[in-house]
Amino acid sequence: MRINRRSFVQGLGVTASSALLPTSLFAQNLTQNELPIPVLNGGESQGGSQHYNLQLQSGTRQFLSGLTTETLGINGSYLGPTLHLKNGSDVAMSVLNQLSEPSTLHWHGLHVPAKADGGPAQIIAPDTSWQPKFTVNQKAGTFWYHSHLLNKTGEQVYRGLAGMIILDDEESESLEIPSTYGVDDIPLIVQDRRFNEDGSFRYVGMHRDVMTGVFGDRILVNGTTSALFTPSTNKVRFRILNAANARTFNFAFADGREFSVIATDGGFLEKPVALRNIVVAAAERVEIVVDFSDGGPVDLVSLPLEASSPYSTTGMMRNMMSMNTETFTILNIEPQSALQRSSTLPDQLTSIRRMQAAEATRTRRFELSMPMGMGRMGRGGGGRGMGGMGGEFLINGKPMEMDVINEVVPVGSTEIWEIHNDSMMMHPFHIHHGQFQILDRDGVPPGQEEMGFKDTVKVGPGQLVRFIMRFENFSDPDTAYMYHCHILEHEDNGMMGQFTVV
Ligand code: C2O
Ligand code: CU
Ligand code: CU
Repeated sequence: MRINRRSFVQGLGVTASSALLPTSLFAQNLTQNELPIPVLNGGESQGGSQHYNLQLQSGTRQFLSGLTTETLGINGSYLGPTLHLKNGSDVAMSVLNQLSEPSTLHWHGLHVPAKADGGPAQIIAPDTSWQPKFTVNQKAGTFWYHSHLLNKTGEQVYRGLAGMIILDDEESESLEIPSTYGVDDIPLIVQDRRFNEDGSFRYVGMHRDVMTGVFGDRILVNGTTSALFTPSTNKVRFRILNAANARTFNFAFADGREFSVIATDGGFLEKPVALRNIVVAAAERVEIVVDFSDGGPVDLVSLPLEASSPYSTTGMMRNMMSMNTETFTILNIEPQSALQRSSTLPDQLTSIRRMQAAEATRTRRFELSMPMGMGRMGRGGGGRGMGGMGGEFLINGKPMEMDVINEVVPVGSTEIWEIHNDSMMMHPFHIHHGQFQILDRDGVPPGQEEMGFKDTVKVGPGQLVRFIMRFENFSDPDTAYMYHCHILEHEDNGMMGQFTVV
């Protein structure tokens, strides 16, 4: 990645113009705010390793004009810096918790030792710091970090404890693709939020917030409402991170223009894949390259999931709780008048060896369920997250228990994990420790855009998804990695399990 001076200036969300926005079902301000670009933090090199200093802090933001919202952030009031890592480098993180509550910080998608993973066991008490070390050992890609506190991940992420990670390697640095951070290589941390009248975040309020996960009626991009981006180059690479607690986005451009998907969760696809829309569930990332040569303004939008989509809610849940059914603007885009020319995308981005099912020595099955027995609704849920407001969220019939290791995986082995969704809504299933390849959904191999490395996979209602993964390195019988649904209210209410690699 090339670094531009602009990347050191954090946009402050200054009102750029008061143009009327296109109508939307969503509440929006009548002003546009310049898209802020999170500060790029490449750490400091000291004694051969890169040191990153992070502070969890509380603060306030004005998301809505005239209203103040209490927030959490990392080295700032909401969200955090974009951490820039290089493959092969030794990383020393120092995470100081200046909050009045415990927290954790998890490096989502990074292949690191369990003790350095930042899961629910690596609690950082107030006024203490956590100092994990690891060596970056994976392909270039877009990752993220966020709170992973047991039963409280949803709330802490909602309030702001998340940020992006950009990992570069020799391959990513030699490719002729847009890679100047903040200029033609643009992070888009997309979230939905809702607010109370006094400006405070309105998190879980009712049982449906737990059932579906919390949905908001305002879109924040990099922590700003009604964001406007003004490209200065004819091609722009957007690193899109769905950092919403629950919402699935179906990204497209308002004029239906084509874009190229170049990377997903774990790094580059072999070749760019041309699409006009892409469904991105919570925690998934996609990198796309879009052409603005025509100079015209265009919005990045989210389209409804069609009823026929395999990821749409089914059965009685569909009637009771509509989800992902709106169209709304994510980002206003107005290209500048003279655009710098970008080079043509290469035909080949990387090479990926597809793992074969026959390489696996074991298959494990995971059943995701959310029993909604009326007798259970609204009753206490054993002290879990929101007091069992939303029924039960189970994997293989069990809720997450901190002192239970559900699976033990031999280090170095290759396994197939079969994820069966026995509920009426889609769950994005995420695993820590490494990246996998999707074999199939109900026996059908995925599209080209899902043929790269992944750490989170959409499992539609009733579907059986199989992925294959190599569990290399970091044998540790005492410290677990997590697997869970990345709808954070599901995770917090039990849809999570633990495995060790030994
Ligand atoms: Cu995004 Cu268990 O994490
Ligand atoms: Cu993770
Ligand atoms: Cu779920």
